[in-house]
Amino acid sequence: MPASESLLLAPFKGITTKAWRNAFSRHVEGFDQIYAPFISGVGDTRINPSKLQDIIPISDNLSPTIPQFISTNAKEIILLGKTLQDHGYDHMNWNLGCPFTRIAEKFRGCGILPYPQMLEEILNEVFAKLTIKLSIKTRLGYKNPEEIYTILEVLNNYPIHSIILHTRTGKQLYRGNTDPDAFSTCRNISLHPMVYNGDIYNLPGFLTLKSAFPDLTTWMLGRGALMNPFLPMEIKGHLLSDSEKRTRLTAFHKDLFDNARQSIPQEKKHLGWMKAIWYYMSGVFSDGEKLFRNIKRTSSISEYHQSVEYTLDQPFSDHSQQEHYFKHSIKHI
Ligand SMILES: Cc1cc2nc3c(=O)[nH]c(=O)nc-3n(C[C@H](O)[C@H](O)[C@H](O)COP(=O)(O)O)c2cc1C
Repeated sequence: MPASESLLLAPFKGITTKAWRNAFSRHVEGFDQIYAPFISGVGDTRINPSKLQDIIPISDNLSPTIPQFISTNAKEIILLGKTLQDHGYDHMNWNLGCPFTRIAEKFRGCGILPYPQMLEEILNEVFAKLTIKLSIKTRLGYKNPEEIYTILEVLNNYPIHSIILHTRTGKQLYRGNTDPDAFSTCRNISLHPMVYNGDIYNLPGFLTLKSAFPDLTTWMLGRGALMNPFLPMEIKGHLLSDSEKRTRLTAFHKDLFDNARQSIPQEKKHLGWMKAIWYYMSGVFSDGEKLFRNIKRTSSISEYHQSVEYTLDQPFSDHSQQEHYFKHSIKHI
């Protein structure tokens, strides 16, 4: 893969917090940029710094990090852009893809996609004053996969930095097939740089997409990288031995655990976050589903450590198991 290509880590609310992002940067590596999970409700008069604690100070970030927000309030977007610039950021990402009903029903996330005129009004107000770079992360539509076409035509009229497209509708959530053909159609409509996101679980899967879009330079990896943190390195041709992977994974886990112990003092919540990480990361092992069940069942820190120690010693999964993990296995847990 040519060195000029970029890999971006997708944001995961509740998982890829600052602690996760920095532990990843210390022990794994491979991403060119990391997108932070969305912030919302910062208001349009004065931003309470506690709302930004996951992304400030910028010097905390061990990898280039792009903050993300959810909003339909132009004044709020302008104020957030200015505040992030004051904190040293030069780029922010607008989440127009979140599929959850309580967000989408308020026309936020993918909920705005059926209403291109509403989007246009916000963009007119925003771009009259915005000086920070703005990219967009979106889907094919809320309920109808053709909504994106009009949205892209609207976006063509504004200086958008790039558009990250997850080729599902909001109604599909994260299930069912993605639609690479729709990505191709969208690339023909959009005048902006496009980024592919969705179901890249392993190197062969990436290479198949790469052969469909040989001139595409930027890719966003999500669950595939939460499951196999070495995926971005593998895509960049940096293959590690099993023993090196085990050493790095053990250090990554210890970093996550220790960091969370300080920031989440309640044992149950602390374990809850670690289990959310293992929900995905168990897939890097060949018997991941069973290993995750064991970790999930633990109710004290000592039981948890025993189960994790056992897990970290198990054989790694192969590509076909990784492909299978989200589609067929883990959803039944
Ligand atoms: C638990 C969870 C939290 C997520 N949080 C965010 C978020 O904060 N912002 C966002 O743009 N997407 C979010 N997403 C979507 C992912 O960033 C990504 O687009 C999605 O998982 C599809 O990519 P993948 O198939 O590579 O995982 C989230 C997804 C999940 C499952």
